[in-house]
Amino acid sequence: MESRIEEAIKVLKMNDRGGYTVPTSRLYPYQWNWDSGFTALGIWHFNKWRAWLEITALLDAQWEDGMIPHIVFRQNDPDYFPGPMIWQTNTEPPSSGHSQPPVLASVILKLVEIGSGYDLRKAREVFPRLMAYHRWYASARDPRGTGVIGIIHPWESGRDNCPDWDIGMESIEVPADLMRYKRRDTAHVDSNQRPTQDQYDRFITIIQYGRQVGWNHHDIHSNGPFLMADPGVQFIFLRANRDLLELARRLELTDAYDEIQEWIQRVEDGCNWLWKDDIGGYCARDIRSGRFSDAITNASMLCFYGDVGSDEQRASMAAHCRRILNACRYGMPSWDPEHSDFESRRYWRGPVWAIMNHMITIGLADAGEDELANRIQSDTRQLVEMNGMAEYFDPMDGTGLGGMDFSWTAAIYLDQSRDGVAAHLQNAS
Ligand code: DGY
Repeated sequence: MESRIEEAIKVLKMNDRGGYTVPTSRLYPYQWNWDSGFTALGIWHFNKWRAWLEITALLDAQWEDGMIPHIVFRQNDPDYFPGPMIWQTNTEPPSSGHSQPPVLASVILKLVEIGSGYDLRKAREVFPRLMAYHRWYASARDPRGTGVIGIIHPWESGRDNCPDWDIGMESIEVPADLMRYKRRDTAHVDSNQRPTQDQYDRFITIIQYGRQVGWNHHDIHSNGPFLMADPGVQFIFLRANRDLLELARRLELTDAYDEIQEWIQRVEDGCNWLWKDDIGGYCARDIRSGRFSDAITNASMLCFYGDVGSDEQRASMAAHCRRILNACRYGMPSWDPEHSDFESRRYWRGPVWAIMNHMITIGLADAGEDELANRIQSDTRQLVEMNGMAEYFDPMDGTGLGGMDFSWTAAIYLDQSRDGVAAHLQNAS
C-alpha cells in the first residue's frame, strides 16, 4: 500500500485545477478561501512556487474593498449549488458575496518562518493585499469598532451547520418568494452528514438578501437576516493580526505597525463579550439579541490560538478540553459530545476536522498545554492514517465522512509529517 504521505501528495496534485486547488472534486469544484490557505501550507512541503501560486490565485479574486470572497468561481460547474449565477456579485473572477475565516496571514508567516529568501520575497509582494483584507475585516465586520467581529452568514464561519448558529438561524424569516433551487451536495454525500433542508432555505435567504442590496456590506451588517459573533473568526482574526504584525517586523514595514496594533488591541478587548459565565467558556453570540449559544466547540478551543483570557478563563477552557477529550475517542469534536444536540456524523455538529485540530494544537502548545496539544495532534495523525484524507471524522469511532480525497486534510497531514515528506521526496528523486 502506498504511504499516506504519497497519498496526500497525490490528492493535492489530483485536486489541482491548474493554478488553484479544489477542496475535492464534484462536492466542492471551485477555489475556497480558507481551504486554499491550508492547502498552500501542505503543497509548500513538496512544491514551493505552486504553494505561492495557490495564494496569489486566491488574492486575484480580492474585491476592490479588500474582501477576499469565500468561493472563487472560475467556471460554471452544474455539480455545485449555489454557483456564480445565484450569488450575482458581478466580480471578475466571479465570486461569492462574503468571506471566510482569515487564515491567510498566519499561513504566510508560517511559510516565511520555515522557508527561505524566496518566501520572504513572495510575502513582501502580497503584504499590501493582506493589509487590505484585514482592514476590510476590521471595518465591514465591526463597523462600530466594538472589537466584536460579526459574521453575516454561517458559511462565513466555515462551520456551516454548527448548532452555534441555531439561535441566529431561528430568527431568519424565509420569504414566500425565496428563489426555487435544487441542492447538489446531497447528490454527492449522504444527507445525514450534511445540513438539513430547513437550514439550506435559511442559507439561501441570506444570499437572496445580499443580492437585493447589491452586496453592500454595511447594509448587510446593519439590516441583514443574520449577524452573529463567532469565537472561531474572532480568535482566528486576532491571531492573524498578531501574525501580520510579526510579518511586518520581518519585512521591516514599520508604517504598518500602528494600524495592526490597533486591530489587535480592539479585537482582544472584544473577546470577553463571548465569555459565558455559566458555561465557563467562550461561546458564539447573536450580536443583535445578545443571546448566547450554549456549548463548547472546537472554535471555542481556539482561545489559546488567539492568546486570550485571564488565568482563570484559560484554566476553565483547559478543563473543558480535558473533559471533552475524555468523552470521545478522537478529539477535538466540533460540538460538545455531552450536549444533547451532539451528532457524531453530521458535518459541524460533532465531527472532528483536521484544520481545526491543527490550529488548536498550535494554540495549546503556545500556551504550554503540551499534554492536550500532543493528544489532539496524535488523534489527527491516527485518523488520517486509519481512514485517509476524509473531509471530517466521527469522534467516536474515527469513520471518515463527507467528501473523500480532501485537500486540506491531506495538507495538514503533510505539514504534520514534514520530515517524512522531505525523506519521501529524496527517495523519489
Ligand atoms: C457548502 O457548499 O457546503 C459550503 O460549505 C459553503 O461554503
